[in-house]
Amino acid sequence: MSPRDKTASRDSRSSTKTARKSTVLDIGRPVTAAASKPRPATHLNVEAPTIAKPRITPGKNTKSVFIKTYGCQMNVYDSERMADVLAPIGYAAVDKPDDADLVILNTCHIREKAAEKVYSELGRIRQHKERNKPDMKVAVAGCVAQAEGAEIKRRAPVVDMVLGPQTYHKLPEMIARVSRETGDVLETEFDTIEKFDALPAGRQAKGYSAFLTVQEGCDKFCTFCVVPYTRGAEVSRPVEQIVAEARSLASQGVREITLIGQNVDAYHADGPDGAEWGLGELIRHVAKIGGIDRLRFTTSHPRDMDDGLIETLSTEPKLMPYLHLPIQAGSDRVLHAMNRGHSYAHYRDLIAKVRAARPDIALSGDFIVGFPGETDEDFEATMNCVREIGYASSFSFKYSTRPGTPGATLPHQVPEAVKSERLKRLQDLLYTQQREWNESLIGKTLDVLVEGHAKEPGRLFGRSPYLTGTHFDGPDDLIGQIVPVTITSAGVNSLVGALV
Ligand code: 5AD
Ligand code: SF4
Repeated sequence: MSPRDKTASRDSRSSTKTARKSTVLDIGRPVTAAASKPRPATHLNVEAPTIAKPRITPGKNTKSVFIKTYGCQMNVYDSERMADVLAPIGYAAVDKPDDADLVILNTCHIREKAAEKVYSELGRIRQHKERNKPDMKVAVAGCVAQAEGAEIKRRAPVVDMVLGPQTYHKLPEMIARVSRETGDVLETEFDTIEKFDALPAGRQAKGYSAFLTVQEGCDKFCTFCVVPYTRGAEVSRPVEQIVAEARSLASQGVREITLIGQNVDAYHADGPDGAEWGLGELIRHVAKIGGIDRLRFTTSHPRDMDDGLIETLSTEPKLMPYLHLPIQAGSDRVLHAMNRGHSYAHYRDLIAKVRAARPDIALSGDFIVGFPGETDEDFEATMNCVREIGYASSFSFKYSTRPGTPGATLPHQVPEAVKSERLKRLQDLLYTQQREWNESLIGKTLDVLVEGHAKEPGRLFGRSPYLTGTHFDGPDDLIGQIVPVTITSAGVNSLVGALV
């Protein structure tokens, strides 16, 4: 995903253009996962599972851990932090499970398909362990762990540890308990503050663009969503902790930070000036850190977008012109049934304010089709919303029934065939808009943060200010730099350009 050679970037920065067999059950939220169709490359969500990269080189006395991440950017962040917690006790992250002493699946529970993938993977791991690596330890982390707890161990006895998202700092202790074979342990921690206090202050950066969790949890309880149950209540991290982590990233060559949270715009904490800070103040503060050239934030909720944050979009030059603001549905009736707490008119007015503040903003959204009771007319309201707002990127899903959520027991569940037909029509429209947006950039010169090599030899890959993946020819020493690229052609998911 990202290059590892930091030396080049640091040097060139100034020239930049711009038991028994023990089972530990430690349960301690979201996840944004895969759309049912081709995934727009311009979005921060991740579709393919990602693998945490090596932090220390495996040697004779080290053990190895393979961490596979499913779902959203918060899981990507959490996996990196798990690797940080494990490094001091001698675990080197490896990118294949084959010889790993410890395999961690950091899981996603947002839709049924996402959760089921974990069990298929555990089946493969069991076979591998039995045939090749009998002493391998297996952990399930993340939102499936939180939601299903001991059920995981029942369905997949290969699992040694089950750990929820708020318990990663306890990994060393849990590994010790499994190794000592002291018996089954069930821990149901749910303390976000403790987790952040206990994680190491320093952080091993990977590449030039990093996620930084500033807020976790959700109090919104949308009737379709598992997140409030798996990640807990909304909690904001203290400003100083965030700044220390951002500085540590900057000192390792990171140039772009995306502040993440399930409801990132609900961020609020005491600022160093004694006043209560929102996300706008936090962004302006982090922007002062030398070496950080670009900031982003995601995911926002329409109910929490305040004027201060919108103003920051216009006044903070390091804040990139990209906003992911999910609406889910265009019909007020469906929005109400979803417990979204806002109307379509409110969303439309917010977008008008955002566009007044930052006319070139690239808008992104999440959509669900086939929520229980959604009529043809309701679905047309979603289509009209998309036509009226206009999106540069999007995520769209068929409603997936999640046990335990209010939506699961609602009457008038929509037949699968109707959901599929609606999703197709919606995605045809969204992808057309996405292509048009990308084509509107042809001829423009955009600052691209070069993240690494593209698949084709001699080609580089980076991200435009609008988060669009951009390919162009150039030398390796541009990796880690922000360079001007004139866009020559555009597809649905990416741009091609020429270095200026
Ligand atoms: N079914 C389908 N999509 C869902 N999402 C969350 N829960 C569900 C569900 N039960 C989608 C929403 C959310 C994104 C992260 O995942 O669009 O914004
Ligand atoms: Fe889920 Fe709604 Fe919270 Fe987003 S705001 S995490 S969709 S409950």
